[in-house]
Amino acid sequence: MKRTVLTLQKMKDEGQKISMLTCYDYTMARIVEKAGIDMVLVGDSLGMTMMGYEDTLPVTMEDMIHHTACVSRGLSDTFLVADMPFLSYHESNVQAVHNAGRLVKEGHAQAVKLEGGAKVHGQIRAIVDAQIPVVAHIGLTPQSVNAFGGFRVQGKSEQQAKQVLEDALLVQEAGAFMVVLECVPSKLAALISQKLHIPTIGIGAGADCDGQVLVYQDMLGMFDGVRPKFVKVYDTIGERMEAAFRDYDKEVKAGQFPGEEHGFAISDEVIETLY
Ligand code: KIV
Repeated sequence: MKRTVLTLQKMKDEGQKISMLTCYDYTMARIVEKAGIDMVLVGDSLGMTMMGYEDTLPVTMEDMIHHTACVSRGLSDTFLVADMPFLSYHESNVQAVHNAGRLVKEGHAQAVKLEGGAKVHGQIRAIVDAQIPVVAHIGLTPQSVNAFGGFRVQGKSEQQAKQVLEDALLVQEAGAFMVVLECVPSKLAALISQKLHIPTIGIGAGADCDGQVLVYQDMLGMFDGVRPKFVKVYDTIGERMEAAFRDYDKEVKAGQFPGEEHGFAISDEVIETLY
């Protein structure tokens, strides 16, 4: 059954946890769906994971639409959210609605996600008024990396904690149907999850959020760089892929691949006519 905003709200109301993973292409979307994950996020983290940038800032609307459309073709039941990239919603409510609409019309997303609390309250309301469901994203918002002076936990001091809580209440009031809490102390995330009637999805925000999201390359051990503290590595597929590629390289060079069973037959009579 196709998951909808109603399914996800019901999961929170009934105390069922929501699982979410990032995904950026068709093949992975098929695998994620078969695993029974509730939601897929085509995150602007694709700037790093798929495009090799240092952060998410260079990602364009065209990049997001392209990857969202690829993922959408791999899903039938899983709820699909697409990120609004940096500067695709900051200029005006009109710009925000226009670009959110493109992610739905051209990318086939069911909802869009945008970063910020009080500062993007108006944009959230405008997109929701255009009948597009919105996931808000507060706490550590990676598009603000330069303003924050790096990737840091948000909400540790009293003043910051009040700001994160206020942002959560404001995005709910603006009409967001869900909120991602990134790198927020676990007890603060638990309090926010209690106070909000919409589901919270945590990443580095403890176990008391209504659901969790991870970047799939992180949880599959596909990167050998710095791994954030909140990531649990469920497999080291990167190493297993490398080993398989090495075997292939060796076999090609040794003439062991392809074997006869990988080729196509032709009758000797036909071949003889060609000599
Ligand atoms: O872009 C992304 O992958 C995200 C998640 C980390 C929540 O926003």
